[in-house]
Amino acid sequence: MVAPVSTVGQAIRLSTVDDTRALGERLAGVLRAGDLVVLVGRLGAGKTVFVQGIGAGLGVRGPVVSPTFVIARVHRGGRLQLVHVDAYRLGSLAEVDDLDLDVDLGDSVVAVEWGSGLVEQLSDARLEVQLERSTYSDERTATLVPHGGDWAERVEQIVADATVTDSRSAAH
Ligand SMILES: Nc1ncnc2c1ncn2[C@@H]1O[C@H](COP(=O)(O)OP(=O)(O)OP(=O)(O)O)[C@@H](O)[C@H]1O
Ligand SMILES: [Mg+2]
Repeated sequence: MVAPVSTVGQAIRLSTVDDTRALGERLAGVLRAGDLVVLVGRLGAGKTVFVQGIGAGLGVRGPVVSPTFVIARVHRGGRLQLVHVDAYRLGSLAEVDDLDLDVDLGDSVVAVEWGSGLVEQLSDARLEVQLERSTYSDERTATLVPHGGDWAERVEQIVADATVTDSRSAAH
């Protein structure tokens, strides 16, 4: 039996900030209203940079900056509106509802930093973007993990043109 194609075990190499932004932009091309994107990675991994790329790709207004002190920001004016959430200090996503953002999340793309463990109850379908930082250089690696919906197909589409480092062939 042929195993289904999956990006798990594949990492996309992001040598520079621009590469990380460009990957976010490429993701924006396949985003639809109601999509949830969860960014996972340690401090400084590049989560906000990646969301900047999504914002650029959607063409939204306003600089996408670290929302640490505001928890969430809504960026309008693009192909889709972007809700950028920093869940670092949130105990639950119910608190996002309590923020009274005056947006229908079903009409938006929601990008959540530090949302792992919180967003699972919000939507079965989501894309998890795992960012990892190299100890020795500026390089980051991104692993796109699809959960439900048609994310597996969309990830295939995004990864198709990206520089892919396949950990299974790393020894060659
Ligand atoms: N290849 C790269 N990809 C992304 N960022 C990079 C890269 N190389 C260097 N950087 C730098 O790393 C930093 C990433 O910061 P960013 O705010 O995006 O991280 P973060 O994961 O959102 O952190 P936090 O957990 O504080 O929210 C930026 O200063 C950026 O310029
Ligand atoms: Mg950040």
